[in-house]
Amino acid sequence: MTKVTASEIDFNNLGFDYMDLPYRYQAIYRDGQWQDSGMVEDSTLHISEGSTVLHYGQSDFEGMKAYRTKNGQIQLFRPDRNAVRMQKSCQRLLMPEVPTEMFVDAVKQVVKANAGFVPPYGNGATLYVRPIMMGVGGVIGVHPADEYIFRIFAMPVGNYFKGGLTPTNFTTSEYDRAAHKGTGQSKVGGNYAASLMPGEEAHAHGFSDCVYLDPVHHEKIEEVGSANFFGITQDDVFVTPKSPSILPSITKYSLLYLAEHELGMKTEQGDVYINDLDRFKEAGACGTAAVISPIGGLEHEGKMHVFYSETEVGPVTRKLYDILTGIQFGDRPGPEGWVVPV
Ligand code: PLP
Ligand code: COI
Repeated sequence: MTKVTASEIDFNNLGFDYMDLPYRYQAIYRDGQWQDSGMVEDSTLHISEGSTVLHYGQSDFEGMKAYRTKNGQIQLFRPDRNAVRMQKSCQRLLMPEVPTEMFVDAVKQVVKANAGFVPPYGNGATLYVRPIMMGVGGVIGVHPADEYIFRIFAMPVGNYFKGGLTPTNFTTSEYDRAAHKGTGQSKVGGNYAASLMPGEEAHAHGFSDCVYLDPVHHEKIEEVGSANFFGITQDDVFVTPKSPSILPSITKYSLLYLAEHELGMKTEQGDVYINDLDRFKEAGACGTAAVISPIGGLEHEGKMHVFYSETEVGPVTRKLYDILTGIQFGDRPGPEGWVVPV
């Protein structure tokens, strides 16, 4: 792959696409400890064909962003939460944990080394940071690997869903992305492999992504393939699903806090029945990549349910977006510890 240079990039027209930046961080777990850690230039991995990541999906990842502030500084949003979530994903797949301090320090190193690729302040573009962990080495039975690679790479990105703050439509899926007591809570590669086909089917029918229903009865909304779901009820309660098979979104927990403490709203994590969508006047998808993406309409069993509007963002969603991104880009103070300078 050819490395990209900052001068080739149009920071005003970024999509959500891989780019081979100059530097990435890598550490190897061998003989019971992390070693050989540091920055590397090569974006290609040379691993054994017997690696558990290749056969048995022993891999997890994180997604986070570095933000350029108005005065040109760079900051991270709650990176310790990503570290802890990755530790939990690693526990689930019997992979070694990266301590929080090592994780956050490594993220900072990657951002600093590629600082010229952090988009300028002003249009919502960011440097997307992708920590990954995988089992490597020669294994053939279904066992955890002896060796692991932890790597962090990055690239500048714009909107994940094409609309940005303009609503787009979603559809429910007849498939499940994760089992009730499976790996849905963990950010593991297999969940995303399972979501590829339903996601492509949704795209082929003109939808941004699919919304998964609970894997037991297919009655309650779980989450979007790449983000959590939230709705604003007719009487202004911020509601988001609670389920053992959805990814605990850091953005979602941040919005629960901000809705309550900044907008004085009631919040609720509970059941969101697909046949009871009239209770919501607005709905959206939230996540690091998705930020807050308003859901215009949600199609289910051939019927389209429109929330606020298919073309305009609702007022509560807009307020939440302004508060969240205001903190992320350093325009307003956030709660203690949320913003970490690089
Ligand atoms: N749900 C899924 C399936 C995701 O992939 C993501 C992205 O990380 C999220 C939710 C949102 O999580 P976060 O807000 O921590 O990025
Ligand atoms: C993120 O929001 O960071 C994600 O990981 C979602 C998606 C790109 C898989």
